[in-house]
Amino acid sequence: MDFKTQVAAATAWGKVECDALLLITVAGAAPAGLDKAVASALEAAAAAGDLEWKAGRTLLLHRVPKVQAPRLACSVAADASPKAFAKAVQAGVQLLKSGGARDLAIALSGAAMTAAHAEAAALAVADAVYVYRHTKPSAPADSPLRSTALLCAQSDLDEAAAGLARGAAIAGGVQLARECANRPPNHCTPSFLAAEMRRIGKSHGLKVDILDRKDCEKLGMGAFLAVAQGSEEPLKFIVARWNGAAKTEAPVVLVGKGITFDSGGISLKPAAEMDEMKFDMGGAASVLGTLRAVAQLKAKVNLVGIIPACENMPSGRAVKPGDVVRSMSGQTIEILNTDAEGRLILCDALTYAERFKPEVVVDIATLTGACVIALGHHRSGLFSNDESLAGELLAAGEAALDPAWRMPLDDEYEEGLKSSFADVANVGGRPGGSITAAKFLQRFAAQQRWAHLDIAGTAWKSGTAKGATGRPVPLLTHFVLARAGRGS
Ligand code: BES
Ligand code: MN
Ligand code: ZN
Repeated sequence: MDFKTQVAAATAWGKVECDALLLITVAGAAPAGLDKAVASALEAAAAAGDLEWKAGRTLLLHRVPKVQAPRLACSVAADASPKAFAKAVQAGVQLLKSGGARDLAIALSGAAMTAAHAEAAALAVADAVYVYRHTKPSAPADSPLRSTALLCAQSDLDEAAAGLARGAAIAGGVQLARECANRPPNHCTPSFLAAEMRRIGKSHGLKVDILDRKDCEKLGMGAFLAVAQGSEEPLKFIVARWNGAAKTEAPVVLVGKGITFDSGGISLKPAAEMDEMKFDMGGAASVLGTLRAVAQLKAKVNLVGIIPACENMPSGRAVKPGDVVRSMSGQTIEILNTDAEGRLILCDALTYAERFKPEVVVDIATLTGACVIALGHHRSGLFSNDESLAGELLAAGEAALDPAWRMPLDDEYEEGLKSSFADVANVGGRPGGSITAAKFLQRFAAQQRWAHLDIAGTAWKSGTAKGATGRPVPLLTHFVLARAGRGS
């Protein structure tokens, strides 16, 4: 999708040349100060009972006299916030996307088109027209929509353009993350993730290194290797760098869980919904997407993405409950449950991250079912050993409309991880399962300013609209951009 801004006063919206004009109005009252032709068409529809100034209402009119655009759509937002605006844009695009319109223009009545509005609009449009088709030739045809212009006042132009550029970059990252995560696990393998990173590296100027099993053995990554050993698919340890700032500036490091299929291993999962464990590389996908977005925006920041990628499978060679392995940090781990594999691959990646002497490290993982129970599907779980880092991530989530919620890390939660046979066990009890998982990771990030995002509830949707969301690419991109240019 091609995004652009266009200056047009509300009184002249009827003269805008496009295939479809989507007018977003704010609930409560009829919009004021509008182009006369547009206003009278909407008033007539309201008088006839076909439109109400209530959130969620939409209307599509064709060939309205004295309106240039052959299609005039209206979508009513609950209020003038970027969040409500995005929701209304999404509903409006739903009306138009399968029609014949190619060039869309979006206008907001009753409020300024701020950077946040423009960004939210770009994401909403891209989201509404995305179709997964890689393994589904019978999927609906791609929408003919190919360009979106945001109408704004001259005084809002710079802000809107900046927000739109950011939104377009984030939308590209979200799309990449969704596409990777949606691919079936026989397509999206560790090797596929590595090839995708190389592809993005070439197109967007990233330095990419791929480590294989032998490299990981040399590094002593006993925990990561233990998870990978049950699978026939070769593991990949993917490292990518965006160097947008001076070499002397310490990087932000993102670590993404890249389990391309989580069967549970010998601690096998039940059959129901096991297919959804192809999404267990959602953290990895968000690292890919964020690197793409940050590189597209040429952000003045150094960013490193690390993805430990493998399958978690049962086999005669698979790791067993009771096995003790030695992590790269030197700490030994008793693997009591092979289904708690995410923390095992992440702990070695967190140790590996130390070599970059990072300013901060953030890991992103579909780590625990318990996090879904705690927070549902709206907010990601945030854990951090650093107050200001936690604050930055929470603020980024709010600004990006991709929210997180802070969870505790009291030492008392670590009790359950005690082991008679190793320095630490890989599971605690069921209570507070997302917290004990985070406590496990914290032991391997003690030297660093670290945060952990548990995205088990937010990375994908189940049910009829099953599919990856691309979250938390918006949160992460905002977080990294906010750090850009501020120095170490
Ligand atoms: N990938 C899963 C977490 C998960 C499960 C995310 C369901 C979303 C939905 C993870 O590897 C896992 O299996 N975690 C276990 C941990 C347990 C064995 C301590 C879980 O959450 O059940
Ligand atoms: Mn698991
Ligand atoms: Zn998993």
